[in-house]
Amino acid sequence: MPEGDTAAVILAAGMGTRMRSAVPKVLHPLAGRPMIRHLIAALEELGLARIVVVVGPGMEAVAEAAAPHATALQAERLGTAHALMAAREALGEGFADVLVLFGDTPLVTPETLRRLLAARRARPRPALVVLGMRPEHPNEYGRLVTDRRGALTRIVEARDASARERRIGLCNSGAMAVDGARLFDLLVHIGNDNAKGEYYLTDLVAVARARGLRAAAIEGDAGELMGINGRADLAAAEAIVQARLRRAAMEGGASLADPQSVFLSFDTRLGRDVTVGPNVVFGPGVSVGEGATIHAFSHLAGAVVAPGAVVGPYARLRPGARIGAGTHIGNFVEIKNAEVEAGAKVNHLTYVGDARVGEGANVGAGTITCNYDGRAKHRTDIGAGAFIGSNVALVAPVSVGKDAVVGAGSVITKDVAPGALALARPEQVEVRGWAARRRPRKRAKRGRGRG
Ligand code: UD1
Ligand code: MG
Repeated sequence: MPEGDTAAVILAAGMGTRMRSAVPKVLHPLAGRPMIRHLIAALEELGLARIVVVVGPGMEAVAEAAAPHATALQAERLGTAHALMAAREALGEGFADVLVLFGDTPLVTPETLRRLLAARRARPRPALVVLGMRPEHPNEYGRLVTDRRGALTRIVEARDASARERRIGLCNSGAMAVDGARLFDLLVHIGNDNAKGEYYLTDLVAVARARGLRAAAIEGDAGELMGINGRADLAAAEAIVQARLRRAAMEGGASLADPQSVFLSFDTRLGRDVTVGPNVVFGPGVSVGEGATIHAFSHLAGAVVAPGAVVGPYARLRPGARIGAGTHIGNFVEIKNAEVEAGAKVNHLTYVGDARVGEGANVGAGTITCNYDGRAKHRTDIGAGAFIGSNVALVAPVSVGKDAVVGAGSVITKDVAPGALALARPEQVEVRGWAARRRPRKRAKRGRGRG
C-alpha cells in the first residue's frame, strides 16, 4: 500500500570524518552501489509521497546519487537536528508522518520501516517513535532512556551519558517516525549545550516530552540498524548485505557451493538451477540464465550469460559480454563487449573484445582479438562454424567468414572469405641433416672453453 501522506528525510550532509576518505561517506559502496542508494531503494518500496536528502556543501555527487529525489543543502554542519531543519522548505507541509533516516544507516528494510510507521499511528498515537536496537557493543550509540513504565523519556548521546546511562543496552538507530504537523515546531526548541556543541536530533524526545507529548520506542535487529562510521563498519555492513544476497540467490533456486566465498552485487540475477563454484565475484549488471554453471574463481561484471552456458574456472566476463546458450568459456579467457553465440567454444587463454563469435565457432587456445591500435577500438567478426587455430592474432577491424579455418599461429590482418583456409605465418623451413653437421662444431667450441 503506498504511503501517500508520509514523507522521508535522509540526513547525509555529514563529513564522514571517521571514514578518512575524499569520498562522502554515503557514497561508499555496498554490494556495488552507494550505500545511500540502498536506503533510497528501501524507501521507494514504501511508496512515499516525498523523499528529501540533506547534503552538505560540495556534495553534488550525493545529490546526483539521490536523483530524482529532492535535495536540501545544510550549509554548515551543526548537527543532526540542524540538518533536519535544513530540509524544511524542500519537504513542504501537510504530511501526517515524517520518517527521519540517517544516510549512514542503509541496511534498514521496508518491513522495519512499515513497523515504525505502524507504531506511530497506533493508539495512543505518540508524537514520535524511535527505532531502537540492542547491539552487542553499544559503544558510541546514543542510549534510549526509559521511565519505570518503559516509556521513552529522552535519548542521551554516549559522550554526554553518565556511567550508569552508558550501561543501558537499548540504543538509538537514528531512524524515527514523527508527527508531520509538529515536527518543525518541536525542532526549533533543540539547543546545542552538549559535549559536541551540536544540535542533536536525539533531543527531540525530551523536547516533545517537555510539551506533554508522548514518545515511544520499538526495537529492530542490531545488524540491520548498524550505523556506518568507519571502514571496519563498512566491511561489517558489506558482510550483512552479502549474506542477504546469497540467501536470496539460494531461495531463488541457485546453488552456491561455498556461499561465503561468492560475492554478489545488489542487482545480480541468477536463474533457476544455476551452479556457482567457490570464489566467484559478480560485479554489477550480471544476469545468468537457467542451468548455467559458473566455475570457481571467475569474475563477472556487466555480462549476460544465457541458459546452459559453462563459464570458468578462472574466466573473466567484462561489461558487454553476452554469452550464448550452451557455450563454453574456459580458463583464463577474457570476454569484453562481445557476443559469443550459441554453442560456440572459447576454452583456453584467450581475449575476445569488441567482437562477435558466431554460432558453434571454435576459438583455439591463446587467440587474441587485437582490438586496440593505440587510438581506437575496432571490431572482429567470426562467422558461425568458423575454426580459429591456437595462438592466432586477429588484427581488427577484421572478419573471418562462416565455416572458415584459420591456421594456428596466424596473424590475420585481412578478411577471410567464408569456407576458406587462411594461413598467415612464415612457412616452415627444413634443412635435412643439419643437426649432425652442427655437432662437431659444438664440441670444438666446448673444448676451447675448457682450455
Ligand atoms: C548518531 C546519533 C546517535 C545514534 C547513531 C546511530 C545524533 C546526535 N546521534 O550518531 O544517537 O546512536 O547516529 O548510528 O543524532 N549529519 C548531517 N549533518 C550534520 C551531522 C550529521 O547531515 O550536521 C548526518 C550524517 O551524514 C549521518 C547522520 O546524520 O548520515 C548521522 O551523523 P553521524 O555523525 O554519523 O552521527 P553518529 O555519531 O553516528
Ligand atoms: Mg553515524
